[in-house]
Amino acid sequence: MRDIVVRDKNNQIRLKFLKWDTQFFGLKSFAVDTQRTNINRSYQNLLRKTIPRMHSTFVSAKVPVGFSQTLIDFLFDLDFRYIGTAILLEYVPNSDVASRDIPCITDKGVIIEKATGVPKDAHMLGNEFKFSRFHLDKNISQRKADAVWVSYIRNLKLSSKELLFVARYKHTAIGAVVAKQYVSKKGEKISNLFFVAVKRQYQKKCIGSQLIRYAIEWCTHRSDVITVGTQARNIKALNFYIKNGFARVRETAMILHKWGR
Ligand SMILES: CC(C)(COP(=O)(O)OP(=O)(O)OC[C@H]1O[C@@H](n2cnc3c(N)ncnc32)[C@H](O)[C@@H]1OP(=O)(O)O)[C@@H](O)C(=O)NCCC(=O)NCCS
Repeated sequence: MRDIVVRDKNNQIRLKFLKWDTQFFGLKSFAVDTQRTNINRSYQNLLRKTIPRMHSTFVSAKVPVGFSQTLIDFLFDLDFRYIGTAILLEYVPNSDVASRDIPCITDKGVIIEKATGVPKDAHMLGNEFKFSRFHLDKNISQRKADAVWVSYIRNLKLSSKELLFVARYKHTAIGAVVAKQYVSKKGEKISNLFFVAVKRQYQKKCIGSQLIRYAIEWCTHRSDVITVGTQARNIKALNFYIKNGFARVRETAMILHKWGR
């Protein structure tokens, strides 16, 4: 399956084909490539040409706030629905919060380490995410949304670019953080922390803070910038990240979904 490009004289929309999502949802899935989409004021022709191309598809869009109001108008005219706002935070190494000691003591039996493979008992940590864009979409059941993350961690292939940090208690995985390393268009080495989760019954015991600080220490020497993303509705996670030194907002983006069934 290929990307879809629809054009008229003045405008263009490009939909990037998503193989994994297509298999998971059983529906051809795409993401709007905002960098290669260009929508001007008179887009009625493009609208007419795009609507039939979206039958029987699931399309998502991540539009940075302030990017292009015309693009947002166009997507709403295509019947995209607002799902939430994603916030990308940046770690500020010498901020007050980053330098502060963690104000609690974790049980001595908790071990935090970089994993060499994905432990089987870490798969269930995927059930802890309740504010992901999949959970916020009414068209996806909670069970299916949980399954997205269980499936993600189950299929995660660790490499020099994808690192996994795990917290264990009595040999059981009770928390995890994934760090994805890549180079930005500006040439900055970025470590993006992703899949940050602690099992419900072990939350509020500082395990999350210790895990994330361990991941930060590991990434600090290997990257120029450390980021972490979450949904604006996940206030608990936002406060947790701020308390652990992610004191600067790097980007905010609107998440939109369209189900063309
Ligand atoms: C976000 C998450 C990873 C935090 O993990 P955690 O182990 O609970 O984190 P901590 O215990 O270090 O800190 C959580 C809170 O407990 C407080 N806390 C920690 N230990 C404490 C103690 N001994 N006594 C009192 N409070 C304590 C922290 O100050 C913090 O307070 P806050 O909620 O007011 O910010 C966890 O809540 C989680 O897995 N959530 C579901 C998945 C999720 O949403 N992940 C983020 C996706 S982007």
